[in-house]
Formats: sequence, C-alpha cells, structure tokens
Amino acid sequence: MARITASVYTSHVPAIGAALDLGKTQEPYWQKVFGGYDFSRQWMKDNQPDVVFLVYNDHATAFSLEMIPTFAIGTAAEFQPADEGWGPRPVPKVIGHPELASHIAHSVIQQDFDLTIVNRMDVDHGLTVPLSLLCGQPREWPFKVIPFAVNVVQYPVPSGMRCFRLGQAIRKAVESFDEDLNVQIWGTGGMSHQLQGPRAGLINREWDNRFLDRLIEDPEGLAGVPHLEYVQEAGSEGIELVMWLIARGAMADVAGGPKPTVKHRFYHVPASNTAVGHLVLENAI
Ligand code: DHB
Ligand code: FE
Repeated sequence: MARITASVYTSHVPAIGAALDLGKTQEPYWQKVFGGYDFSRQWMKDNQPDVVFLVYNDHATAFSLEMIPTFAIGTAAEFQPADEGWGPRPVPKVIGHPELASHIAHSVIQQDFDLTIVNRMDVDHGLTVPLSLLCGQPREWPFKVIPFAVNVVQYPVPSGMRCFRLGQAIRKAVESFDEDLNVQIWGTGGMSHQLQGPRAGLINREWDNRFLDRLIEDPEGLAGVPHLEYVQEAGSEGIELVMWLIARGAMADVAGGPKPTVKHRFYHVPASNTAVGHLVLENAI
C-alpha cells in the first residue's frame, strides 16, 4: 500500500527561484534564507520519497480569470515549467504519476470533494520554487510529483476547514493505492505577505509563529480560522496558508495515529515581500 510518510511546508517566493537560478545563494541576504533549508535538503536525500503530492497555487499562469478551478489535480505524465514573463525557469520538467493521480482523483471525488482533472498544465513558481528549495539544482527532480493546484487568488477561496478535510480524504486515497509507494505531501505558499495596496509589505511575525505552533499542535482548531482573519492578520496573499492545512490534514494523527515528529522548523523575514516559513513533519512508521 502507498503511505504518507511526511509532510513539508514552505513558502514559494519567486525571487528565491531567481536567486538560485542567478547563482546568488551565497549573498548575505539570500544566505539567511537558503541556510534555513540546509537541514531539509539533507533530510530529503536521506528520506527520498517515490512521489510528492505537491499542494500549491497557480498565479494566473496556467489558469486565468477565464477558468478558476477551486481544486485541480494534475494527472499528466509530465508538466513543463511555465513562462511567467521572463522565459521558463531553467529547472527540470516535472514528471507526474498518472496512475496514482487518477486513483486519488477517483477516491477523493467519491469522498464528495469536487476536483478538476487537468491533463495538460504548465507549473509556475508556486510549484518549482519549493522543489528548488528542497532539492537544489539537480539535472532531474529525484521523485515524481502530483501537482495539486488550489485557488487562493480569485475570491471565493476555499476555507481552512475544507482544506483540512480534503487532506484527510487524500490520506485515505493514498492508503487505498495498491502499490508500495513512499508518498510525501507538501503544503506551500505564505507566510504573511501583501503585495499590493496601502498595506503592501505587511508582515505579522506573531501571527505567523502562532500559525506554526497551531499547525503542529492543534491543526483542527487552526482549520476553524476564517479566511478574513488570514487577510486581516497575514495580508491579502497570506491566504495562501490555507494550503498548508491540506498537507496537515493528511498526517497520521488526524486519523487517530501518533503525533508527527517535528524534524525542522524555520522562520525568517524578509524574502522579497514575505515572511518565509518552513516545517518538516514526519509520521511515525
Ligand atoms: C511574492 C510572493 C509570492 O508568494 C508570490 O506568489 C509572488 C511574489 C513576493 O514576495 O514578491
Ligand atoms: Fe504566491
């Protein structure tokens, strides 16, 4: 059977991808960001998954205002890095897992969550920057990836509770797949940031750190936080954090199992306009 062994949470700031691609990781400004991922890059090598179920948001790249799926699962064999205006990032193409992705789509839809099935989709910084942060700059990504895009760009956005419950459904789906696979689930985006308007540049360290505390200790309580609180406290783009609840909902303790081990926790301000947050939680085997 396939099993979810761990969850990883990280910001996806596009400037982080540019810093990597342009060889600036050792500059003092960026060293402080990348240094927070040293542990995790080694941990990824030591705990290599077969597949990463990667929850992220598309930033009006593959989707536009013409079509806005709330939850979209990538079932294709491969996904190309998107051109976001400066040409595609020089990173490997993303290799999918169509069999597992189709199985999850079937199971999750039968558990009453409506997913959009996507057979062709370019993936933007929301997906490629987390891969770069956790894997560096390999010639090929070392595992398969199922892209799972969540609408947090155009209102109405899904609630934290719906995301958390969806994570539970994804766990059931993965565990009902016959093949023995080591699957990680990643929640990406955030932390506090606002890119526009009079509050542009807003950062809320206290709220972010409380979010991290509660994500570890009280995820169901955290799932009850209404979307307006994210926007008021963590800025208009802070709403990206609801995606972390999908990954957290898929962990063993939520289904009555043991609590996960916190392998790594990192928080840093600033990276571009955002607070960077990062967590690695491991399920007991
Ligand atoms: C920035 C952060 C994001 O999450 C994003 O999607 C785009 C830009 C920024 O900080 O510049
Ligand atoms: Fe973003």
